Amino acid sequence: MKIFTKKLELKTYLSTCKEQNKSIGLVPTMGALHRGHLSLIKKAQKKNDFVVVSIFVNPTQFDKKEDLINYPKTIDEDIQLLESVSCDVLFLPSVKEIYDDNVSSKKFDFDGLEHQMEGNFREGHFDGVGTIVKTLFEIVEPHKAYFGQKDFQQLQIIKKMVKKHRLNVKIKGCPIFREADGLAMSSRNARLTEAHRNAAPFIYKTLKKARKKFGTENANDVSEWVENQFKKQSLLELEYFTIAEEKSLETIKNKESNKKYRAFIAVFAGKIRLIDNIQLKN
Ligand code: PAF
Repeated sequence: MKIFTKKLELKTYLSTCKEQNKSIGLVPTMGALHRGHLSLIKKAQKKNDFVVVSIFVNPTQFDKKEDLINYPKTIDEDIQLLESVSCDVLFLPSVKEIYDDNVSSKKFDFDGLEHQMEGNFREGHFDGVGTIVKTLFEIVEPHKAYFGQKDFQQLQIIKKMVKKHRLNVKIKGCPIFREADGLAMSSRNARLTEAHRNAAPFIYKTLKKARKKFGTENANDVSEWVENQFKKQSLLELEYFTIAEEKSLETIKNKESNKKYRAFIAVFAGKIRLIDNIQLKN
C-alpha cells in the first residue's frame, strides 16, 4: 500500500491511474478503523480498479474541542488493517496540508437538510463535513465514494452537495455494521466504559421495538414510548429520537404510504455520544 501525506504527490500518482482508465473508489474516514470501515473498503474494491482510503480527523466538523482531542487515534493499527485488506492507497494528510493556516469551514446550503436532527445539536458540523468531503473529492477526483448509513443525515447531505455543486462522483451508501449485540459500529465505541458498553445495545433494541410499534401506532406515540424507555435507563441519556422522512429528513407529520421513513436516535453513554437509525415500514 502506498501512503501519501501530500495532496500534490497523491494527485500525480492518481493521474497515472486515470490515464490508464482505471476507476477510483474513495473511502473517506477519520481513522480508528473497524469492520464497518472494512466493509466500505471491500465494497469499493468490488466496484473499482483502485481504492483510496483517507484518514483525516477533520477539526472543523467537531463542535466540541474535547471531542476532537479525545477522538481515538490508532494510526499504526489502521495501517496494518488497510494492508491486510490490500488497500491500494492511504491518504494521510496533516491539518496544515488540508487547511493551510485557515482552519475553518466553508458555508454550505444543503436545502435545509442541515437544520434537522444533528444540525440542531452540533453547530457547524455539516459545514465542516461539506468542506472536508468536497476538498477530498477535489484532490482524489474519485468515480465513486463510499459512506456508511450510520451517519444517514451526513450521507443525504453529501448526496445533496454533489447534486448542487454538480460534482462528478457517485455516492454510495452502505448498510450499518453492527456488533453481535446490535450496537452500531463506531470509532467512538472504543471510548465507552465497560458499564456504558454493556448498556449501549439497548439503543438498537429500542429502535427495533420502535419499528414494530410504527406499524400500528402513530409517530408521536412511538416517540413518547421511546422517551419513556430511556427514562428508565440510568446509564444512557436520550438526546433525541425522531421519525423522519428519508429524503427531506423532516420529522413525520402524517404517515404517507408513498414515503420512506426512518427512526433516528442520539444518546449519551456517559460522555460518549452515540447515534443510530433504522429504516421503518409504513
Ligand atoms: O463519517 C466520517 O468519518 C466523517 O464525517 C468523514 C465523512 C470522513 C468526513 O470527515
